[in-house]
Amino acid sequence: MITVSVVSLKGGVGKTSVVLGLAGAAQAAGLRVLVVDLDPQANTSMILESDLSDFTMNDVLADGGRGVIADAIQESGWGAGVDIVPSELSLERRNTDTGERLEHRLARAMEGVRGYDLVLFDSPPALNSLAINGLAASDRALVVTEPTVFSIVGAQKALDAVDVVRRNYNPRLRPAGIVINKARRSAEHEFRIEEIRQSYADLVWLPAIPDRSVTFQAQGAFVPVQRWRSAAAEELRVVFADFLERLLSMAPRRR
Ligand SMILES: Nc1ncnc2c1ncn2[C@@H]1O[C@H](COP(=O)(O)OP(=O)(O)OP(=O)(O)O)[C@@H](O)[C@H]1O
Ligand SMILES: [Mg+2]
Repeated sequence: MITVSVVSLKGGVGKTSVVLGLAGAAQAAGLRVLVVDLDPQANTSMILESDLSDFTMNDVLADGGRGVIADAIQESGWGAGVDIVPSELSLERRNTDTGERLEHRLARAMEGVRGYDLVLFDSPPALNSLAINGLAASDRALVVTEPTVFSIVGAQKALDAVDVVRRNYNPRLRPAGIVINKARRSAEHEFRIEEIRQSYADLVWLPAIPDRSVTFQAQGAFVPVQRWRSAAAEELRVVFADFLERLLSMAPRRR
Protein backbone atom coordinates (compact mmCIF):
# COMPACT_ATOMS: atom_id res chain seq x y z
CA MET A 1 0.00 0.00 0.00
CA ILE A 2 1.21 3.49 -0.83
CA THR A 3 -0.35 6.66 0.57
CA VAL A 4 -0.12 9.77 -1.57
CA SER A 5 -1.12 13.41 -1.00
CA VAL A 6 -1.98 15.26 -4.20
CA VAL A 7 -1.09 18.89 -3.51
CA SER A 8 -0.76 22.41 -4.89
CA LEU A 9 -0.91 25.72 -3.13
CA LYS A 10 -2.75 27.23 -6.07
CA GLY A 11 -6.41 26.44 -6.65
CA GLY A 12 -7.96 24.94 -9.74
CA VAL A 13 -4.82 23.40 -11.21
CA GLY A 14 -6.25 19.88 -11.23
CA LYS A 15 -5.59 18.13 -7.91
CA THR A 16 -9.06 16.64 -7.84
CA SER A 17 -8.85 15.63 -11.49
CA VAL A 18 -5.52 13.90 -10.90
CA VAL A 19 -6.91 12.07 -7.86
CA LEU A 20 -9.92 10.93 -9.90
CA GLY A 21 -7.73 9.98 -12.89
CA LEU A 22 -5.49 7.85 -10.69
CA ALA A 23 -8.44 6.29 -8.84
CA GLY A 24 -10.06 5.40 -12.17
CA ALA A 25 -6.79 3.92 -13.41
CA ALA A 26 -6.46 1.82 -10.26
CA GLN A 27 -10.02 0.54 -10.57
CA ALA A 28 -9.50 -0.30 -14.26
CA ALA A 29 -6.40 -2.26 -13.27
CA GLY A 30 -8.40 -4.29 -10.74
CA LEU A 31 -6.75 -2.64 -7.73
CA ARG A 32 -8.32 -1.30 -4.54
CA VAL A 33 -8.06 2.43 -3.88
CA LEU A 34 -9.21 4.60 -0.99
CA VAL A 35 -9.82 8.27 -1.80
CA VAL A 36 -9.81 10.60 1.20
CA ASP A 37 -11.28 14.05 0.58
CA LEU A 38 -9.45 16.65 2.67
CA ASP A 39 -10.99 19.63 0.88
CA PRO A 40 -14.04 21.30 2.48
CA GLN A 41 -15.22 22.11 -1.06
CA ALA A 42 -15.93 18.35 -1.27
CA ASN A 43 -15.61 18.17 -5.07
CA THR A 44 -14.19 14.68 -5.01
CA SER A 45 -16.89 13.51 -2.62
CA MET A 46 -19.54 14.81 -4.99
CA ILE A 47 -18.08 13.19 -8.09
CA LEU A 48 -17.63 9.90 -6.27
CA GLU A 49 -21.26 10.24 -5.16
CA SER A 50 -20.63 9.70 -1.49
CA ASP A 51 -23.38 9.91 1.08
CA LEU A 52 -22.68 13.12 2.98
CA SER A 53 -25.20 12.33 5.69
CA ASP A 54 -22.73 9.79 7.03
CA PHE A 55 -19.71 10.11 9.28
CA THR A 56 -17.35 12.40 7.31
CA MET A 57 -13.76 13.61 7.36
CA ASN A 58 -14.93 16.38 9.67
CA ASP A 59 -16.12 13.82 12.24
CA VAL A 60 -12.92 11.80 11.81
CA LEU A 61 -10.67 14.77 12.65
CA ALA A 62 -12.97 16.06 15.38
CA ASP A 63 -12.80 12.62 17.01
CA GLY A 64 -9.11 12.07 16.29
CA GLY A 65 -9.07 8.54 17.70
CA ARG A 66 -6.78 5.78 16.50
CA GLY A 67 -8.17 4.02 13.44
CA VAL A 68 -11.41 5.98 13.54
CA ILE A 69 -11.35 6.64 9.78
CA ALA A 70 -12.60 3.06 9.29
CA ASP A 71 -16.04 4.31 10.42
CA ALA A 72 -16.10 6.90 7.62
CA ILE A 73 -15.15 4.69 4.66
CA GLN A 74 -17.91 4.21 2.08
CA GLU A 75 -18.01 2.40 -1.25
CA SER A 76 -18.09 5.11 -3.91
CA GLY A 77 -20.60 5.54 -6.71
CA TRP A 78 -17.89 4.29 -9.07
CA GLY A 79 -18.42 0.83 -7.61
CA ALA A 80 -16.16 -1.95 -6.42
CA GLY A 81 -12.53 -1.03 -5.93
CA VAL A 82 -12.99 2.67 -5.18
CA ASP A 83 -13.84 3.67 -1.61
CA ILE A 84 -14.21 7.24 -0.35
CA VAL A 85 -13.99 9.12 2.91
CA PRO A 86 -16.20 12.13 2.18
CA SER A 87 -15.65 15.73 3.11
CA GLU A 88 -18.18 18.45 3.89
CA LEU A 89 -18.03 22.22 4.29
CA SER A 90 -17.78 22.05 8.07
CA LEU A 91 -14.38 20.36 7.66
CA GLU A 92 -13.07 23.91 7.25
CA ARG A 93 -13.52 24.35 11.01
CA ARG A 94 -10.89 21.70 11.72
CA ASN A 95 -8.31 24.20 10.43
CA THR A 96 -8.79 26.35 13.51
CA ASP A 97 -8.83 23.63 16.16
CA THR A 98 -6.37 24.12 18.95
CA GLY A 99 -4.55 21.48 20.92
CA GLU A 100 -1.55 19.21 20.74
CA ARG A 101 -0.33 17.09 17.85
CA LEU A 102 -3.04 18.47 15.57
CA GLU A 103 -0.88 17.69 12.52
CA HIS A 104 -0.96 13.98 13.35
CA ARG A 105 -4.72 13.57 13.65
CA LEU A 106 -5.15 12.00 10.23
CA ALA A 107 -2.15 9.69 10.57
CA ARG A 108 -3.58 8.45 13.86
CA ALA A 109 -7.05 8.04 12.38
CA MET A 110 -5.55 6.02 9.50
CA GLU A 111 -3.87 3.49 11.78
CA GLY A 112 -4.92 -0.03 10.91
CA VAL A 113 -6.26 0.82 7.45
CA ARG A 114 -5.32 -2.19 5.32
CA GLY A 115 -6.35 -3.89 2.13
CA TYR A 116 -5.80 -1.04 -0.31
CA ASP A 117 -3.13 -0.83 -2.99
CA LEU A 118 -3.33 2.94 -3.02
CA VAL A 119 -4.62 5.67 -0.70
CA LEU A 120 -5.06 9.12 -2.25
CA PHE A 121 -5.56 12.33 -0.26
CA ASP A 122 -7.15 15.15 -2.22
CA SER A 123 -5.87 18.34 -0.60
CA PRO A 124 -7.34 21.81 -0.33
CA PRO A 125 -5.50 24.54 -2.30
CA ALA A 126 -3.61 25.88 0.72
CA LEU A 127 -0.97 24.82 3.15
CA ASN A 128 -3.42 24.73 6.02
CA SER A 129 -3.85 22.22 8.81
CA LEU A 130 -5.90 19.91 6.58
CA ALA A 131 -3.20 19.71 3.90
CA ILE A 132 -0.51 19.25 6.56
CA ASN A 133 -2.50 16.40 8.09
CA GLY A 134 -2.54 14.74 4.67
CA LEU A 135 1.19 15.16 4.17
CA ALA A 136 1.93 13.99 7.70
CA ALA A 137 0.09 10.74 6.90
CA SER A 138 1.61 10.17 3.42
CA ASP A 139 4.52 8.27 1.94
CA ARG A 140 4.64 10.59 -1.04
CA ALA A 141 3.44 13.99 -2.22
CA LEU A 142 2.45 14.45 -5.84
CA VAL A 143 2.62 18.11 -6.84
CA VAL A 144 0.24 19.39 -9.52
CA THR A 145 0.92 22.50 -11.56
CA GLU A 146 -0.09 24.11 -14.84
CA PRO A 147 2.28 25.17 -17.64
CA THR A 148 2.12 28.89 -16.87
CA VAL A 149 4.52 31.58 -15.79
CA PHE A 150 3.57 30.80 -12.19
CA SER A 151 4.24 27.08 -12.43
CA ILE A 152 7.83 27.03 -11.24
CA VAL A 153 7.16 29.30 -8.29
CA GLY A 154 4.06 27.31 -7.42
CA ALA A 155 5.81 23.96 -7.67
CA GLN A 156 8.73 25.23 -5.58
CA LYS A 157 6.40 26.44 -2.83
CA ALA A 158 4.69 23.06 -2.74
CA LEU A 159 8.04 21.24 -2.59
CA ASP A 160 9.16 23.56 0.21
CA ALA A 161 5.99 22.70 2.10
CA VAL A 162 6.69 19.00 1.64
CA ASP A 163 10.15 19.57 3.06
CA VAL A 164 8.79 21.43 6.08
CA VAL A 165 6.34 18.62 6.83
CA ARG A 166 9.06 15.98 6.35
CA ARG A 167 11.36 17.74 8.82
CA ASN A 168 8.72 18.52 11.42
CA TYR A 169 6.10 15.81 11.28
CA ASN A 170 6.81 12.89 8.94
CA PRO A 171 10.37 11.76 8.18
CA ARG A 172 9.22 9.16 5.60
CA LEU A 173 7.53 11.76 3.36
CA ARG A 174 9.13 12.26 -0.08
CA PRO A 175 8.01 14.05 -3.22
CA ALA A 176 6.66 11.60 -5.82
CA GLY A 177 6.99 14.08 -8.63
CA ILE A 178 5.49 17.10 -10.34
CA VAL A 179 2.70 16.61 -12.85
CA ILE A 180 1.86 19.36 -15.31
CA ASN A 181 -1.85 19.53 -16.05
CA LYS A 182 -4.00 21.17 -18.74
CA ALA A 183 -1.25 21.31 -21.37
CA ARG A 184 -2.21 22.58 -24.80
CA ARG A 185 -0.28 22.54 -28.04
CA SER A 186 1.00 26.09 -27.87
CA ALA A 187 4.46 27.60 -27.98
CA GLU A 188 3.86 29.17 -24.57
CA HIS A 189 2.87 25.88 -22.93
CA GLU A 190 5.74 24.02 -24.56
CA PHE A 191 8.14 26.70 -23.36
CA ARG A 192 6.82 26.47 -19.79
CA ILE A 193 6.97 22.67 -19.77
CA GLU A 194 10.58 22.80 -20.93
CA GLU A 195 11.36 25.44 -18.30
CA ILE A 196 9.96 23.37 -15.45
CA ARG A 197 11.71 20.28 -16.78
CA GLN A 198 15.02 22.17 -16.79
CA SER A 199 14.45 23.21 -13.18
CA TYR A 200 13.31 19.91 -11.71
CA ALA A 201 14.72 17.29 -14.10
CA ASP A 202 13.53 13.78 -13.24
CA LEU A 203 11.06 15.00 -10.67
CA VAL A 204 8.83 16.13 -13.55
CA TRP A 205 6.49 13.45 -14.84
CA LEU A 206 6.11 13.56 -18.59
CA PRO A 207 4.03 13.68 -20.66
CA ALA A 208 2.09 16.62 -19.33
CA ILE A 209 -1.62 15.84 -18.90
CA PRO A 210 -3.39 17.31 -21.93
CA ASP A 211 -6.22 19.82 -21.61
CA ARG A 212 -9.25 17.78 -22.68
CA SER A 213 -12.89 18.67 -22.13
CA VAL A 214 -13.65 15.00 -21.52
CA THR A 215 -12.13 15.62 -18.07
CA PHE A 216 -15.05 17.73 -16.90
CA GLN A 217 -17.57 15.88 -19.07
CA ALA A 218 -16.78 12.59 -17.32
CA GLN A 219 -16.75 14.31 -13.91
CA GLY A 220 -20.14 15.86 -14.68
CA ALA A 221 -21.48 12.43 -15.57
CA PHE A 222 -20.01 10.96 -12.31
CA VAL A 223 -17.96 8.36 -14.15
CA PRO A 224 -14.22 7.77 -14.39
CA VAL A 225 -12.65 9.06 -17.59
CA GLN A 226 -11.51 5.46 -18.13
CA ARG A 227 -15.11 4.50 -18.91
CA TRP A 228 -15.59 7.26 -21.48
CA ARG A 229 -15.25 6.31 -25.14
CA SER A 230 -13.39 8.87 -27.24
CA ALA A 231 -9.91 9.47 -28.58
CA ALA A 232 -9.35 12.15 -25.92
CA ALA A 233 -10.49 9.82 -23.13
CA GLU A 234 -8.11 7.17 -24.44
CA GLU A 235 -5.26 9.69 -24.34
CA LEU A 236 -6.00 10.44 -20.68
CA ARG A 237 -6.44 6.76 -19.87
CA VAL A 238 -2.91 6.06 -21.13
CA VAL A 239 -1.39 8.95 -19.15
CA PHE A 240 -3.08 7.98 -15.88
CA ALA A 241 -2.25 4.28 -16.30
CA ASP A 242 1.40 5.28 -16.67
CA PHE A 243 1.28 7.65 -13.68
CA LEU A 244 -0.37 4.96 -11.55
CA GLU A 245 2.41 2.54 -12.38
CA ARG A 246 5.02 5.10 -11.35
CA LEU A 247 3.30 5.70 -8.03
CA LEU A 248 2.91 2.01 -7.26
CA SER A 249 6.60 1.44 -7.98
CA MET A 250 7.32 3.84 -5.09
CA ALA A 251 5.33 1.83 -2.54
CA PRO A 252 7.33 1.32 0.65
CA ARG A 253 8.18 -2.24 1.61
CA ARG A 254 6.74 -2.73 5.07
CA ARG A 255 6.87 -5.77 7.32
N1 LIG B 1 -6.61 18.06 -18.06
C1 LIG B 1 -7.72 18.80 -18.00
N2 LIG B 1 -8.38 19.16 -19.12
C2 LIG B 1 -9.50 19.91 -19.05
N3 LIG B 1 -10.06 20.33 -17.92
C3 LIG B 1 -9.46 20.00 -16.77
C4 LIG B 1 -8.26 19.22 -16.74
N4 LIG B 1 -7.90 19.05 -15.44
C5 LIG B 1 -8.83 19.69 -14.71
N5 LIG B 1 -9.76 20.26 -15.49
C6 LIG B 1 -10.94 21.05 -15.06
O1 LIG B 1 -10.47 22.21 -14.42
C7 LIG B 1 -11.27 22.51 -13.27
C8 LIG B 1 -10.39 22.52 -12.03
O2 LIG B 1 -9.84 21.22 -11.87
P1 LIG B 1 -9.81 20.49 -10.44
O3 LIG B 1 -11.10 20.66 -9.73
O4 LIG B 1 -9.31 19.12 -10.67
O5 LIG B 1 -8.67 21.39 -9.75
P2 LIG B 1 -8.27 21.45 -8.20
O6 LIG B 1 -6.82 21.77 -8.15
O7 LIG B 1 -8.73 20.24 -7.51
O8 LIG B 1 -9.12 22.71 -7.73
P3 LIG B 1 -9.28 23.21 -6.20
O9 LIG B 1 -7.99 23.88 -5.86
O10 LIG B 1 -10.44 24.16 -6.24
O11 LIG B 1 -9.53 21.99 -5.36
C9 LIG B 1 -12.35 21.43 -13.22
O12 LIG B 1 -13.51 21.91 -13.86
C10 LIG B 1 -11.76 20.29 -14.02
O13 LIG B 1 -12.73 19.47 -14.62
MG1 LIG C 1 -9.92 20.05 -5.82
